[in-house]
Amino acid sequence: RAPVIAIDGPSGSGKGTIAKLLAEQLGYSLLDSGALYRLTALAALDRDADLTDEATLTEIAGNLDIRFELRDGEVAALLEGRDVTRDIRMERVSMAASKVAAMPGVRAALLECQRDFRRAPGLVADGRDMGTTVFPDAPVKIFLTASAEERARRRFEQLRGKGVSVSLRDLLEDIRARDARDMNRETSPLAPAEDAVELDSTGVDIDGVLQRVLRLVRD
Ligand code: CDP
Repeated sequence: RAPVIAIDGPSGSGKGTIAKLLAEQLGYSLLDSGALYRLTALAALDRDADLTDEATLTEIAGNLDIRFELRDGEVAALLEGRDVTRDIRMERVSMAASKVAAMPGVRAALLECQRDFRRAPGLVADGRDMGTTVFPDAPVKIFLTASAEERARRRFEQLRGKGVSVSLRDLLEDIRARDARDMNRETSPLAPAEDAVELDSTGVDIDGVLQRVLRLVRD
């Protein structure tokens, strides 16, 4: 079976960036599992579904018509043929995604879809439960963390670069609330797999983290 590199960790730990660079370097496929929860949320919002109705959300997750395509060097997400790459990053979709991700039915419905991304020569899978639930047999598992303060600061710089003004204090509160939701949910709560290597990226830049991860992959 094609090897999987599982990269899990909390919101803002930089795993998305690291996963993408790693997949490029190794020539592996990439699974952004968070995007699947976001696509489920967007599909539900699009059809005005009741976001608390697990049966409906499970049905939507199980019948998603999605595709990922490389467009101008970036991964574009398509929902029913429509490019929703930007839409799925909107705040209301993030909020909804976090709610639907707490539903066991939705998580079960997305399981096979995630495993289908596994193909030769290998897969880099980015998420919360890649190493614990989706690919428990992954030969390399990394749990990437950073202090809440650092993650809030990174987000702050990112938004400032886009000309968005927000308070650092609000961002920190938001990160803490998300951590709590991710860690306290019933199914697949955020936690490192027993055989995961924990990497703390506080004070380490992207290249520094990438080098450490590459070293783990090569060993
Ligand atoms: O970057 P951010 O943490 O804001 O979002 P994301 O990684 O795109 O994930 C979107 C939502 O899906 C979050 O609420 C995650 O908790 C959830 N998620 C999950 O439950 N399991 C995964 N494997 C990936 C994401």
